[in-house]
Amino acid sequence: MLSPSQLKTYETTGYVIVPGVLSPTETGRVRREVEHLFTQDHPGRVLEKDGRTVRGIHGCHQVSPLFARLARHTPVLTAAERILGGQVYVHQSKVNAKRAFQGDLWPWHQDYVFWEREDGMREPRVTNAALFLDDVTPYNGPLLFLPGSHRLDVVDVPRRDGDGGWESHLSADLAYSLTAELLAPLAERLGIEAATGPAGSMVLFDPRLIHGSGTNMSPVDRTLLLLTYNSVHNPPTGGSRPAFLAEPDHTPLTALDEL
Ligand code: SIN
Ligand code: MN
Repeated sequence: MLSPSQLKTYETTGYVIVPGVLSPTETGRVRREVEHLFTQDHPGRVLEKDGRTVRGIHGCHQVSPLFARLARHTPVLTAAERILGGQVYVHQSKVNAKRAFQGDLWPWHQDYVFWEREDGMREPRVTNAALFLDDVTPYNGPLLFLPGSHRLDVVDVPRRDGDGGWESHLSADLAYSLTAELLAPLAERLGIEAATGPAGSMVLFDPRLIHGSGTNMSPVDRTLLLLTYNSVHNPPTGGSRPAFLAEPDHTPLTALDEL
């Protein structure tokens, strides 16, 4: 459960880091499941530009019972319910591999623009729960945030690539990434903060918060599991993305104590 001061931090800065959400044993189980999923040929699996290294897998809660349970894991689900003020379901789940020495960057962006324009979501009544499956340090490509940028609402950015299809929502050449002209004055005013911490930590962040991450130049993987919770009162009204990017089942989730 989020404390009032953690909730306040989330509201003020657009994110909050919660340590110790998964025990080392739970983190190890999820990490092993992730390595197994990385080997599976699935349409939601995306490779880095080298065509070999796994960049990410999508729709994990739809193919793995462990991930489906994790989406209902009490400390994660109740935090999302608290932030969104009621019942929720997972709109999207993914694991970004950010492999040692190989993991490529994520350009600066806001998530909500994808869900609004591509999935027809009406309101940003969404939150991201990102679970650290490895220790995250300044060296292995941590999530970087412009604190407070969620208050800017959605910055109007043109699509970069014409129509690149859903693959351009997951690649290092990201559609709807923010330009240097937009970012420079914002970064100067708001600063940049890195979300670091030991494996098992969770960072919750607002769908309008401007974020990105650099390449992983370290010898340590930075495996990040992201669960995007949406309020059951905010179902998307359109869109044509595959189910592994936009969950069609909006049934409210119930909490599970055991992973
Ligand atoms: C994201 O923007 O959804 C994730 C970026 C990252 O994995 O660093
Ligand atoms: Mn994002």
